[in-house]
Amino acid sequence: MRSVSHTTQLEIAYVCRRMPPDVEAAMQARFTVNLNESDALLSSTAIADHARGATVLFVTATERIDGELLRQLSPTLKTVATLSVGHDHIDLATARELGIEVLHTPDVLSDACAEVALMLLLNAARRGFEADVMVRSAQWRGWAPTQLLGKGLVGKRLGIFGMGRIGRAIATRARAFGMQIHYHNRSALTPDLAEGATFHPSLENLCQHSDMLMVAAPGSPQLKGALDAAHLRALPRGAVVVNISRGDIVNDDALIDALKTGHVFAAGLDVFANEPDIDPRYRELDNVFLSPHIGSATEETRNAMGWLLIDGLAALRRGERPANLIT
Ligand code: DGY
Repeated sequence: MRSVSHTTQLEIAYVCRRMPPDVEAAMQARFTVNLNESDALLSSTAIADHARGATVLFVTATERIDGELLRQLSPTLKTVATLSVGHDHIDLATARELGIEVLHTPDVLSDACAEVALMLLLNAARRGFEADVMVRSAQWRGWAPTQLLGKGLVGKRLGIFGMGRIGRAIATRARAFGMQIHYHNRSALTPDLAEGATFHPSLENLCQHSDMLMVAAPGSPQLKGALDAAHLRALPRGAVVVNISRGDIVNDDALIDALKTGHVFAAGLDVFANEPDIDPRYRELDNVFLSPHIGSATEETRNAMGWLLIDGLAALRRGERPANLIT
């Protein structure tokens, strides 16, 4: 256990979700903690109620921290600390206006997310769901030359939409599988970061050059529905699509149509619009590999995310500007 700064001892923190045991213990040691013991999802109204009087609000991507909530908790609330790299669930403009600091958890989760990205890519391309069902359901009649033929990764072009820290960690792993890396970002990376990856100035251009497409762009209102029917049509027939970012970046109607017609061979999805109430049509499709938003879900990573917030708060209270401060 790290040493505790007594300057933060009396602050009240409201914690919206259960955290890993070490993280909760560290929070308890540093703050007067009010914890959502049941771990039930809380509405903004419920948070406003429970967090009244708190100077620190620990949240995750499952809570909607809108402007009205921030106004209700201001001026007592000083800091919102989110256990996520994504911050599309927080009204940053209002936080800025009210002088509320927002901390998030970049970097420490990039490797874990990249692992899940490859898990999805491999399972989509190599028909992981159907393979598992065949064995589990006792339908397997033995090896056959034409059974469950998928798509190999070697020599294929992986198009990464969003070549930030997570996108680059995915590229590193995909290169080891023999893939060529293409990407679309707002601007081209410097050569040391691009490591030979080919930049495309538009998402459409990227789609035209991707045998497999990886959505890794940070969620934001501007990117809602960004991957639409026209982009999916621009992919070569038989492409594979993976999303590890935010569900609402993908137009579900368009992706489901493309999966049904076979224009998209398979998809791997870790994130969905309106989680956990996902579009039920995905459950009916054999060519989709699904996981429940587990990109950063390893013990090491969730602990590291928790510590990044706790250390960031301590730095703020010392008057410093931690690297994970957004506003
Ligand atoms: C993140 O860190 O943004 C993950 O999606 C978990 O919310």
